[in-house]
Amino acid sequence: MIREGDHCLLNTYARYPILLKRGDGVKVWDSNDKEYLDFVAGVAVCNLGHCHPKVVKALGEQAKQLIHCSNFYYIGPQVELARRLCEHSFGERVFFCNSGAEAAEGAIKLARKYAKERSGDNRYEIITMENSFHGRTMGALSATGQEKLRKGFEPLLPGFQYVPFDDLDAVAQAIGPQTCAVMVEPIQGEGGVNLPSADYLKGLRELCDQTGTLLIYDEVQVGMGRTGTLFAYEHYDVPPHIMTLAKSLANGVPIGALVTTEEVAQAFTPGNHGTTFGGNPLATAVGCCVVDTLLEDGVLENCQEQGEYLLKGLQDLKARYAFIKAVRGKGLICGCELAFEGKEIVERCMDRGVLINCTAGRVLRFLPPLIVTREEIDSLLTALDGIFSEQ
Ligand SMILES: Cc1ncc(COP(=O)(O)O)c(C=O)c1O
Repeated sequence: MIREGDHCLLNTYARYPILLKRGDGVKVWDSNDKEYLDFVAGVAVCNLGHCHPKVVKALGEQAKQLIHCSNFYYIGPQVELARRLCEHSFGERVFFCNSGAEAAEGAIKLARKYAKERSGDNRYEIITMENSFHGRTMGALSATGQEKLRKGFEPLLPGFQYVPFDDLDAVAQAIGPQTCAVMVEPIQGEGGVNLPSADYLKGLRELCDQTGTLLIYDEVQVGMGRTGTLFAYEHYDVPPHIMTLAKSLANGVPIGALVTTEEVAQAFTPGNHGTTFGGNPLATAVGCCVVDTLLEDGVLENCQEQGEYLLKGLQDLKARYAFIKAVRGKGLICGCELAFEGKEIVERCMDRGVLINCTAGRVLRFLPPLIVTREEIDSLLTALDGIFSEQ
């Protein structure tokens, strides 16, 4: 199957030579029945773990009722999920789509339309951050502040300006009458688990308010409990005008969302935007289950507690191994920056039955399900210690 995949799939991923067949909680098994602890969780998707019984039940029950119908009609679970997202965020209206990139596309369109209606044709530029990641479609890719990902796909969508992350002066200099929005991940995921200074988001919001610019948060990776609060921006207490979500919103059933205020939402009218699958009954029924489970089953509390434990364990390793340059994290998104490329460490972890990932070349990234236990974190730390001691 693996060899066949190499022949019939597009060569867009440097895949590891294992095939995952089954999952339960934090564990997955490959086609040889080898067990792994999963500290990737589909890249921050399976926040409730694999095959969580409540998710499986919600999926099964909705599948028996109605899997799909058009957005020509009202969809019960879609309205219920929108209500939940608004109840627990700054948001007042929600548009559902199918992925993070598609949510970014919607945010770009909404910001442009909002600005066009107020300020005319010349206000369409969006400031985004270096080392950001917003997705692979042409608009989201154009917003992504990583030249290596954009290279080869020019001409990109015009109207993006990239500035260093966590640098308010750079935004102050870049922002002008041409700017319609500033788009930022509250914590950069793909860029290497980069946390901002305490006042960064507040400063961004002030700059936006002074200039009538919209602030967009990309919470695709860090939303839905990943950092220990439902949304990462809650740590900084600064709401945006638009927020994008995807990944873990339905724990693995494809979904994306754009959450916004009533005022900004008015810029879209029927026919301006849409998608066939977005917000369908199946995905949104599971989304409702995910929000309820995150909030009612102590999952956020576990994320905070185990996140601190994991960060402390990584800091202890840093104290012992000089090649660990930095350790960063919030809740259960943690990064360990090495002095060298991390790919080989990922492979050696896999040999020892632990799945981790490496981003930005040298940053080992840990994104376990938020239900991970202290014992499972100990297993990861023991594996890392063993591997690091052989370096
Ligand atoms: C912050 C962020 N935004 C957007 C995306 C794109 O999401 P998708 O792969 O669902 O299009 C990702 C994916 O990793 C992401 O981490």
